[in-house]
Amino acid sequence: MKLNNIYNGDCTEILNKKIKKSSIDLVFADPPYNLSGNALKWQGNKTGGDWFMVNEKWDKMSDPDYFTFTEQWIKGCHTVLKDNGSIYVCGTFHNIGEILVVLKKFGFLIKNIITWQKTNAMPNMTKRVYTHSTELIVWAVKGKKWIFNYKDLKKINPDKQKDGSEKQMRDVWNFPLVQGKERLRDKSGKAAHPTQKPEAMLERIITASSNKGDIVLDPFMGSGTTAFVAKKLKRNWIGIEKENKYIKLIKNRIKKV
Ligand SMILES: C[S@@+](CC[C@H](N)C(=O)[O-])C[C@H]1O[C@@H](n2cnc3c(N)ncnc32)[C@H](O)[C@@H]1O
Repeated sequence: MKLNNIYNGDCTEILNKKIKKSSIDLVFADPPYNLSGNALKWQGNKTGGDWFMVNEKWDKMSDPDYFTFTEQWIKGCHTVLKDNGSIYVCGTFHNIGEILVVLKKFGFLIKNIITWQKTNAMPNMTKRVYTHSTELIVWAVKGKKWIFNYKDLKKINPDKQKDGSEKQMRDVWNFPLVQGKERLRDKSGKAAHPTQKPEAMLERIITASSNKGDIVLDPFMGSGTTAFVAKKLKRNWIGIEKENKYIKLIKNRIKKV
């Protein structure tokens, strides 16, 4: 097993074959939500520029296949996590049911479901449902001695008490979808990865559930947000990404820390 390394391949296979059992302190997983299928787009949008719904081949599975896939990678994460390790898994209503059932099946204890409220959510184009403006992050632990750096979290909490003193971190987090300088773009100016997560989200998760020198593993690296923040916070990291096309993007990003 190699630290501070990107494994290019399928995460279940790499978790089973390359990662040492009971060696990982924290897993952050932002898996496919299985919501692609119709290429909705809104070109010429006046408020935020052209908009394209996530429509990737890695994000399209039948419901039974998605359940099996979820079981396989979560089982792999359970095996490689230490007994006091934590796992955070992102989702929406599309996949959160499967995630919760599978986490429980493998004996994880669910500690919180954090709501990410997207302060710049796109309007709903169909006008037939409430505007989707949230994502969920399930935090679950393997055993009873989990890490929770309560005081460090209070320090980085932008919300303060009325008298300006520190406040407990709540389970609703307000961040915009990644934009501006933080958003990685290709030469044509289009987002280099369709689902780049906010660095501030990873800062909270890594601060809360790991210590300096610990190993943070991300089975679905995407644009490499987890590795980028883990390196900044002086953690070791391991990342897995199946699509070759994102590897160079991740390497260039991590070099900048
Ligand atoms: C939702 S994105 C992760 C985005 C990431 N959190 C970020 O901030 O950029 C999921 C990523 O997982 C990758 N992926 C999908 N299936 C995979 C698998 N079986 N093994 C490894 N990576 C996979 C996709 O190529 C995609 O880049």
